[in-house]
Amino acid sequence: MAKILLTGGAGYIGSHTYVELIASGYEVVILDNFSNSHPSVLDRLEVITGAPVIALEGDVLDANFIKDVFAEHTFDAVVHFAAKKAVGESVEQPLDYFQTNCVGFSTLLGVMKDAGVRRVVFSSTATVYGVPDILPLPENHATRPESPYAVNKLVCENLLKQLKTSDDTWSYGILRYFNPAGAHPSSLIGEDPNDIPNNLMPYIAKVATGELARLRVFGDDYDTPDGTGVRDYIHVVDLAKGHVQSLRKLIEQDESHVVNLSTGIGYSVMDMLKSYQAACGKKLEYEIVGRRAGDIDGFWGDPSLARDLLGFKAERGLDDMCKTSWNWVSRRKNN
Ligand code: UFG
Repeated sequence: MAKILLTGGAGYIGSHTYVELIASGYEVVILDNFSNSHPSVLDRLEVITGAPVIALEGDVLDANFIKDVFAEHTFDAVVHFAAKKAVGESVEQPLDYFQTNCVGFSTLLGVMKDAGVRRVVFSSTATVYGVPDILPLPENHATRPESPYAVNKLVCENLLKQLKTSDDTWSYGILRYFNPAGAHPSSLIGEDPNDIPNNLMPYIAKVATGELARLRVFGDDYDTPDGTGVRDYIHVVDLAKGHVQSLRKLIEQDESHVVNLSTGIGYSVMDMLKSYQAACGKKLEYEIVGRRAGDIDGFWGDPSLARDLLGFKAERGLDDMCKTSWNWVSRRKNN
């Protein structure tokens, strides 16, 4: 079976992808600097998979370290998550974001090139599209990234395309995620932000556990059915499976692709809150406040290309996202 380097494998989406890769029979080496994750995730991955985890602590910016990793292991492909991911923070720290997200990735690609490893699955984002001209968003929609974070992702996407132009033996799977939500059914891994969350789902989760008093709903005057922002929430286990399908496409058919990982369905902030209330069995407090700068009305993806190319279909609905999130955060809080 193919051997995969999984950078950022202790993070939220990375850890779920690890589980799906192992379940599909891949041999996986995790590389993580634990800047936004906990080493204890590795123990929990061992419980879930029933097998020892091979993990290396280090940074994608450390070229000598990465070279040593590639000298020690013969990889068939890399699945790259290791990056900074907070849109607001990227506006405050554009240099740090460029350094980790773009320089880190190009450092990794340089070592891959020298080692003759030419396949990579890249974690991108639907925010590369910017404000949509049409919905659902197709992959050939114009890209108009607005934050440094979104620009970083597009720079990396373009770098992969340029590499392939320079040498056709490269192949890439660029996966543009919509809004990840939910947790693993084991409740052993999930999203675990250190600070006050920026994103809706982890914020609601902390209201449900009592760590935060109430949700602030950023605007109820959007052009959506209930006036609150609409997004395409996708279960993290579905997302993780999408990575395995992308990897398979590269390894078995050598076919590069750029696809949305989306459900094609939009839910509003109030839909999410109601569904979470049902999952946790409590009334969750909220207040309507002003719009958050940069937010837009509605945003959901066209999932048809991922279905046609990769056979990808998101199978887990909103109830499952809220239920698994609640199970994870309530268990984490009690431990
Ligand atoms: N929202 C609130 N209150 C909060 C947090 C969010 O009302 O405390 C609302 C937002 O206004 C928006 C919706 O919930 O309408 C979703 O907001 P998120 O911050 O959860 O998600 P975004 O769509 O803004 O962005 C996220 C990630 C990006 C990713 C993008 C993909 O932050 O990195 O989804 O669509 F690229």
